[in-house]
Amino acid sequence: MKVFGEEERIMLAQVNKLREYYLLSIDSAQSSDELQLLKVSSLGKKGEVTALLKTLGSMLPDERKAFGECVNLLKNELEEKFEARAKQLKDKQNSLVEQRDAIDATFPASGRRAGAFHPVVETLHEIVEIMVGVGFSVALGPEIEEDFYNFEALNIPKSHPARDMQDTFYFPATEFHPEERLLRTHTSPVQVRSMLKYGAPIRVVCPGKVYRRDNDPTHSPMFNQLEGLLVDEDVAFADMKGCLQVLMNDFFGKSLRNRYRASYFPFTEPSMEMDVECFECSGSNPECRICKGSGWLEVCGMGMVHPFVLESGGIDPAKYNGFAWGMGLDRMAMLKYGISDLRLMFDGSLQNADLMKGEH
Ligand code: DAH
Repeated sequence: MKVFGEEERIMLAQVNKLREYYLLSIDSAQSSDELQLLKVSSLGKKGEVTALLKTLGSMLPDERKAFGECVNLLKNELEEKFEARAKQLKDKQNSLVEQRDAIDATFPASGRRAGAFHPVVETLHEIVEIMVGVGFSVALGPEIEEDFYNFEALNIPKSHPARDMQDTFYFPATEFHPEERLLRTHTSPVQVRSMLKYGAPIRVVCPGKVYRRDNDPTHSPMFNQLEGLLVDEDVAFADMKGCLQVLMNDFFGKSLRNRYRASYFPFTEPSMEMDVECFECSGSNPECRICKGSGWLEVCGMGMVHPFVLESGGIDPAKYNGFAWGMGLDRMAMLKYGISDLRLMFDGSLQNADLMKGEH
């Protein structure tokens, strides 16, 4: 075996270095252009490997043989590698083209899920539609209300204990509003505003947000109500019963029994609270998730409009009378959709959306 001298060892080290460099570079080349550049710089006319081959001519025959073998081996190895990598890159390119051709750009997009109304808004729409269907109009009032409309005009004077039941958020008097104002505690003030605006006869429903200093699992500081008011000549209690029966049957989607319990509101006389038969179980299921086994659902407060309130609204109580009711829209939505916790109404988490559907 031939023993290389110092000079030859340096040349062999150079061959090895070139080998390592080009093998690595060929492997990591990402395009045929890149590969072509590498080929030119190694095997091209002025390439590094070609340059080594050119030095053979000036060598002694022994050296030329041994060294020439090494450089030729390198040359052949690189040529093979170039070819193999070129094929790989070409295959990769082809499969990308195939993939691209496999995509049907005309295929309809998967689309976005459409949004939906909040259950309370849905409920509001349904009730308004029913009431408009029997001749009522919609009237709205301000959420920041004057003491007069929220209390005084509704027969709730300053000293009245009913004010304590609706302890509320007050705004101090200002230069522009010398009277103290408050976040309305119910939609009943819109009764008075509507009577003053439209006179009698009148049929309106007044939906909106109301505010009270309540905050527990079944009460929130803000909730939604819908007020109803009908004033005309010779209105009977029976008219009110018929009207509400239509509303409940249409809303819950079936004919339901109802009952009235005597109650008290300063703005109606007599005053009642209305329950409807549980639309889910009609009282047959002691474990009903809707009525909790009582068979009845408490739906609204109501009564014949107090003459004092008609007067506040500029209507002559000797000529006209009427009825009014107030219902919680959140409560109606909870009943209809079987939602057990009021707080879900204000929860933005979609993880709780199943609970909203009553599947619990
Ligand atoms: N305003 C009452 C409340 O918030 C509800 C109510 C009861 C409204 C009887 C009415 C009514 O119009 O007649 O509790």
